Amino acid sequence: MQGKHPQDTYNIMSELILPNDTNTLGNLMGGRLMHWMDIAAAISAMKHCNCPVVTASVDNVSFNNPIKLGNLLTIEAKLTRSFNTSMEVYLKVWGEDLSAQYKYVSNEAYLTFVALDPNGRPRKVPELLPQTDDEKKMYDGALRRRQVRLILGGKMKPEDAGELRALFVKD
Ligand SMILES: CC(C)(COP(=O)(O)OP(=O)(O)OC[C@H]1O[C@@H](n2cnc3c(N)ncnc32)[C@H](O)[C@@H]1OP(=O)(O)O)[C@@H](O)C(=O)NCCC(=O)NCCS
Repeated sequence: MQGKHPQDTYNIMSELILPNDTNTLGNLMGGRLMHWMDIAAAISAMKHCNCPVVTASVDNVSFNNPIKLGNLLTIEAKLTRSFNTSMEVYLKVWGEDLSAQYKYVSNEAYLTFVALDPNGRPRKVPELLPQTDDEKKMYDGALRRRQVRLILGGKMKPEDAGELRALFVKD
């Protein structure tokens, strides 16, 4: 299976925030945003593995700035690392007031997807080959983030978490 570059998995998605997307304060609802984030990230993962994927986990999401009614939402998604059957995707979310020409970061997040074979079982994915310094940094960090989410998801024993073990286990 031939390796791929993070740039091959790049996906950008935009939505205009309409009244039906907002709460009573005129801000984009968090649940609607997460729906779009899930889709943007899934497309990035599918560009990498060229098969169906499921969302395995969503890491912490902090909504730092509300996105206002009438503003433009932009989500950028790119793979940071692939493992055996799973892939970590990094998302950056912006709001933009096109009239005032003002753009602001709303939030960032990591989502993990698992590739599935025709029987719905996890299947192996291609290796991701980081190219730039930023991509290499994200790639290195992905291993530690994976350990944290697998421990929190009950899929890994803290004792097996290598350098992160000290965060969870008191000797
Ligand atoms: C995600 C899922 C496919 C994992 O299946 P599984 O039988 O636990 O398979 P495995 O234990 O072999 O794990 C497969 C991969 O999933 C990863 N994984 C499992 N749970 C995970 C979690 N909570 N967070 C991140 N990755 C996870 C494993 O690390 C493994 O990755 P790797 O092969 O790269 O090491 C399965 O739990 C599932 O289908 N969940 C529901 C997905 C879904 O419906 N999502 C939409 C929201 S409802």
